[in-house]
Amino acid sequence: MITIIGAGKVGGDAALFSALRNLDDQILLLDIVKGLPQGEAMDINHALSEQGIDVEIKGSNDYSDMKGSNIVVVVAGLGRKPGMTRMDLLQKNAGIVKSVVENIKKYADDSIIIPVTNPLDPMTYICYKVSGFERNRVFGMGGMLDLSRFKQFIHEATGHSRHSIRALVIGEHGENMLPLPRFSSVSGIPLTSLLSKEKIDELVQNTRQVAAKVIELKGATVHAPGNGISTIIDSVVNGKMQVLPIATYLDGEYGYSDVTIGVPAVIGKNGVEKIIELDLNDEEKEIFNKGIESVKNAISCIQI
Ligand code: LAC
Repeated sequence: MITIIGAGKVGGDAALFSALRNLDDQILLLDIVKGLPQGEAMDINHALSEQGIDVEIKGSNDYSDMKGSNIVVVVAGLGRKPGMTRMDLLQKNAGIVKSVVENIKKYADDSIIIPVTNPLDPMTYICYKVSGFERNRVFGMGGMLDLSRFKQFIHEATGHSRHSIRALVIGEHGENMLPLPRFSSVSGIPLTSLLSKEKIDELVQNTRQVAAKVIELKGATVHAPGNGISTIIDSVVNGKMQVLPIATYLDGEYGYSDVTIGVPAVIGKNGVEKIIELDLNDEEKEIFNKGIESVKNAISCIQI
């Protein structure tokens, strides 16, 4: 069973995307707000019934219902408002995520945890440390969101089919995110051969800033996060061994330890099967390091 803790817009969308992809026969939406997960489950079940998809969505306010979950997505917490950074949510969401993970330990202690709550990298650190799970079982969804935006901007700039576009974004899911044009392509043709440096720099900047723009326009980002979560779950439950950017605990990789940040990894039935270390150039290393410093600073400000 897949459990999604936090039945707000993103949690509900993740349940819908996961059901439409038939990722499990049962998906549980959990929330502390009475009625919210139950109503969300009913609404999604109605859509699935029309589609003839036999995935059962359940809604509950009782953590004990997550017993037997093999995957637990943590979306619980506050979302940012227009003008806020993800890091502005640190203190408030740290407390919420800690209490959520205590319940995961209690009711689903052999599950894989996929944090989504922002600020994503410090929240992933909390999930790893508080759960006490092996690090391959705790990895956050951040880079998947960023790469989906980078792909859109590449699609718009080149006019090429989205199907042909491969993009990679690692580092902090925040102000210091690291889109990687050198590791992005259209049908294997490096992006750096297709677009000018000026244009690429523009796409990179747009990728960093677009989430705030969406929040300013519609109040929250919903579908891109919901989809990104379901792509990660798909690679786990179907053992696809896809290489995806996820936030995970580093233990010497990229020269860093005791920190969580976005890196490319092979995602399969055991969660993080392997972390892939890229040969970053000096400019890329500088931005990656800024993300590390930002996350380490955030971690030092929270009680775990
Ligand atoms: C975003 C939030 C979920 O990037 O971090 O949309």
